[in-house]
This record gives sequence, structure tokens and C-alpha cells, in this order.
Amino acid sequence: MPFRTRYTGLVNKYHDRLPLADDVRVVSLGEGATPLIRLNNIPRTLGSNVDLYVKYEGLNPTGSFKDRGMTVAVTHAVSEGSEALICASTGNTSASAAAYAARAGIKAFVLIPDGKIALGKLAQAIMHGATVLQIRGNFDDGMRIVKELAEQAPVSIVNSVNPYRLQGQKTAAFEIVEELERVPDYHCLPVGNAGNITAHWMGYSELALGPHDPPTAAYLPCGHRPFHSGVVRERPRMVGYQASGSAPFLRGGAVSEPETVATAIRIGNPQSWDYAWAASSESGGWFDELTDEEILATQRMLADHEGIFCEPASAASVAGTLRDVRSGRIEAGSTVVCTLTGHGLKDPDVAKQHADGAVSTVDATTGAVKDAILGRLS
Ligand code: F0G
Repeated sequence: MPFRTRYTGLVNKYHDRLPLADDVRVVSLGEGATPLIRLNNIPRTLGSNVDLYVKYEGLNPTGSFKDRGMTVAVTHAVSEGSEALICASTGNTSASAAAYAARAGIKAFVLIPDGKIALGKLAQAIMHGATVLQIRGNFDDGMRIVKELAEQAPVSIVNSVNPYRLQGQKTAAFEIVEELERVPDYHCLPVGNAGNITAHWMGYSELALGPHDPPTAAYLPCGHRPFHSGVVRERPRMVGYQASGSAPFLRGGAVSEPETVATAIRIGNPQSWDYAWAASSESGGWFDELTDEEILATQRMLADHEGIFCEPASAASVAGTLRDVRSGRIEAGSTVVCTLTGHGLKDPDVAKQHADGAVSTVDATTGAVKDAILGRLS
């Protein structure tokens, strides 16, 4: 019987396309290789024959896409002798940093906005043994502090201003092209700090540009030539969706008091601002915004109609895509990939808001249960 080689994470799979020494000690939890799921039920309601896929990044080891960047950033940091990581976070980066620090046997310090991160993410940071500092401020305040502090203390910053993070995250684009055996026409994703849209564009560009082509303006340098292979001709249009209350790309500048139920993307001053604009304009894409209601309705729809539970921020990508398909901005016949950035279990409080009518208490008798079931079958 032929055996397949055991999957051991994206660094081992894509090592030749990552700026890490051949003999580096890889810090991995088996991240990457997430499913690309074709939506069946939702597209039927659209009246347009788009081929719609979701890349379910919530199935990474800590439940979000951050693990892709973290394996590379932590592998690099440890190889340089780092003994502590630091990040500001709306929750997922802190969960991932805490887990990979634990795996590497080093310390993690995470700054989170006081009271504004989803419960599951806080639980992860605590369980993985990070030092959790809740700041009386938002993510943007935390980001400013972390950048200043990393210059003054022996700690490695693992936010996406660290180029190794984006190097890891670009691998999602590689996987999508391998799985689809083509480049999608559109790639749609939620935008907060704007690292992920940048990383995906870097990944697609590495596949499409030849060894002698200049890199995209969305390339965050990391002391290595970009790994251009020129194995495909096309690149997708990159479409970024933001929550209306936290939509600096729609307002044309930083938003000082960002608000949204999608706490993961409650960010007013994105660090990868220029890179994300470059990705958007080079690709012929756009940014758009969604209300909290649209985001939550789509989160529910994915869970209810497709069996896919993502966190609110992730649903922004699908919410925006459905609107743009309906309006024809995304043309019929297109192949579209939406990134579902994080798992729905991260944010149980949001799910609880839908509990009305879903949970009823009945007597512990067969008759009572039967009545409750028959009432719903008719
Ligand atoms: N979706 C989720 C679930 C996220 O956690 C984030 C970012 C994004 C989307 C946006 O990605 O920042 O690359 O544009 N979360 C960061 C964090 C900021 O701290 O966990 P981005």
C-alpha cells in the first residue's frame, strides 16, 4: 500500500520558498493545508453562476490564519536566539504567539484591548502561558507601544510588521492555486491590520512573476530576494472588506475610535496601509465595507446553510462577496476564493446571541422530547 508522507507543516512543505536556513530548527504545530471548501447551498440563492470557495483558515492549530505567519516568525526568532515574543493583538495573534512560544519553550507577552477580545482567544493566551497585559486602549495603542518597546527590550515583535509573518501567510495563496489547479479570478478577505491581504498578494505575485521581474510594491522586504517562480500567468483581483465602524481604507485615513462586533478587525490604523493599497491597485481590486448586521447575518448563514462556523470578522469576506456578486461587480462565471480567517468557536458570546428559539428546556421524558421534535418537523 502506498503511504503518503506525513504532513508536518508549511515550513517543511514550502521551505525552498521561505527565507529560512536549510538546517533551521522548525517551530511548527502542523499549520497550513487547510481545506478549500466549495460552497453549495448559498450560491444557489444568488442567481449568478459563480464558483465560490472558502479557505477555512479556522482549521489551523490555534484556530486562525495567524499560525501560518507565526511558524515562520517564531522559527526565525528562535534561530536568532530570541527568548521572548511580544505582540499587540485583537486576539488571534496573541493566541497564536502564545502557542508557538510554548512550543518553542520561550516567553510570550501579549497586549490586548481591555474587554474587547473574544473569550476563546483570551482563554488560549492564558492556557498557553503567555503574560497577558490588557491595556486601557485599543489595538492601535497596543501596536504603538509594542513597536516602541521592541527597540528597548530583548523581545521579538511578532505582529505582521515582522516580515517573516507575511512570508508564512503568503503560503495560503500557494495552497489555493495548487488545489484549484488555477488562479482564482477574485480573492476576497477581511481587512484589519492589512497584513493578510498583503501576504496573499505577495504569494500570488511570487507564482506569477519571473525570476528577473521586480517585486510587487506590496512586498515587505526580509533580507532575501523574492522567490519568483513564474509558474502561472494570472493573479486574482484582491478585494478587501472592512467593518463600517473600523474602515480606514474606505475613509482614506486612520479612524481614531474603531468599533465593530467583529473585534478581530476593530483596527483604525492599519500597519500595512501602503502595501495593502498596492495590492488592491496592482490587482485591479477594491475595498468595501459591511455593517455589523450584514457580517453577523452572513456568519449565521454560513453556519446554518453550509455547516461552516467562522468568527464574525471572517464572515465579512463572504458578506462582501455575496453583495458584489449580486450587483454584478463580480461577474457571473467567476471563480472566487474567500478567506475564512478564524474559527467560530473563538467567539462564543456572539453565537449565544442567536440562542433564542434554538435551545429549549423540556422534561426528561420521551413524550416531551417527541412533542418538541414533531412540532418542528411539521
Ligand atoms: N480575521 C481575523 C479572524 C483576524 O484575527 C484578523 C486580524 C483579520 C481577519 C484581519 O487580518 O490584520 O492581516 O488584515 N487579527 C489581528 C490579531 C489583528 O491581532 O489577531 P489583517
